[in-house]
Amino acid sequence: MRKNLPMGIPHKRDSWWLLTVSVALAMMVAAVGAASPPVTADRASAGGAKARAELREALRATPDARRGQALFAPCAACHGADGRGVTDGSVPVIAGQHYTVIVKQLVDYRHEQRWDMQMEHASRMAGLAGSQDLADVAAFAATLPRGFVGAHGDGTSLARGTASYFERCERCHGPLGEGDAERGIPRLAGQHYGYLYRQFFDVVEGRRPNMDQLHDTLMRSFDREQIVGISDYLSRTGLEPGIR
Ligand code: HEC
Ligand code: HEC
Repeated sequence: MRKNLPMGIPHKRDSWWLLTVSVALAMMVAAVGAASPPVTADRASAGGAKARAELREALRATPDARRGQALFAPCAACHGADGRGVTDGSVPVIAGQHYTVIVKQLVDYRHEQRWDMQMEHASRMAGLAGSQDLADVAAFAATLPRGFVGAHGDGTSLARGTASYFERCERCHGPLGEGDAERGIPRLAGQHYGYLYRQFFDVVEGRRPNMDQLHDTLMRSFDREQIVGISDYLSRTGLEPGIR
C-alpha cells in the first residue's frame, strides 16, 4: 500500500477496500462531525443546522466509490476527468483531497455555508439527491491521484511565506500541507496557486462562513507578500516525493 493512503482510502479498485473504507470512516465521524465551526453570517445561519445534520448523515454512510464514479461525470466538466481542476486556480484540484473534507465542502455549498455560484448549483444537482450520493462521489474523487499539476508563484515571497506557514499553519495542515483525513483538515499540497491565494480573501470577506474564527483572524493578519508566499509554498509542495 502506498504511504500516502493513511486512512486506507484506495486509489486502485482492489477488492479489500470497501471494508477498509467503511471502518476508517466510522472512526472519522466523531472527529469531523464534532468540529462544526461557529456560523457567523445571516445568510449562513439558516443553513447551519441542516448542514450539520447532513454532514453527520453523510459521514455515517458507507461510501461506494464505484457508484461515485458515475456521479462524478458532471463534476468532470469543470474539475476534469482527473479531478485536477484548472491551473489558473479558477477551479481547484479535488483529486486526492481527503474524503472527509470533500464531503464537508459539498454539504457546505448545499446549505449556504460556503458561497460560490457554480458549486452551489453543482452540489444541489439532481444526481446528488441525498447524503449517500455525497458520500459516494466524494469517495471517488478522493481516490484520484493528485500529482503536481498547478502553476505556482514567482518565488519572490517564498522564503517569507514558508516561514509564516510554519509559524501559523503547519501544526494543523502538516509540514507539506498534507492535511489530516481524520481531523477533516484539507490537503493543501499541490493545490493551484491562484485558488489558494483567493481563499485568503474569500475567508476574510465572508464567502466561507464554514471557516472558523481562527482562519479569519490568522488570514487578516497577513500582508500581501505573506499571502503570495504561503500560496506559493503550498502550490510547490506537491513536487515533494511521497505526496501525490
Ligand atoms: C460548473 C463548474 C463546476 C462543477 C460542475 C463542479 N464544480 Fe466543484 N468547484 C468549481 C469551482 C469554481 C470551485 C471553487 C469554488 C470556490 O471558490 O468556493 C469548486 C470547488 C469544489 C470543491 C471545494 C474544493 C476545496 O478544496 O475546498 C469541491 C470538494 C468540489 N468542487 C467538488 C465537486 C464535485 C464532487 C462536483 C460534482 C458533483 C463538482 N465539484 C462540480 C466548479 C465546479
Ligand atoms: C487549528 C487547525 C488549523 C490551523 C492552525 C490552520 N488551519 Fe486551515 N483549515 C483547518 C481546517 C479544519 C479546515 C477545513 C475548514 C472547513 O471546514 O471548511 C481548514 C481549511 C483551510 C483552507 C481551505 C482549503 C480548501 O481546500 O479550500 C485553507 C486555504 C487553509 N485552511 C489555510 C490555512 C492557512 C494558510 C493557515 C495558517 C495561516 C491555516 N489554514 C491554519 C485547520 C487549520
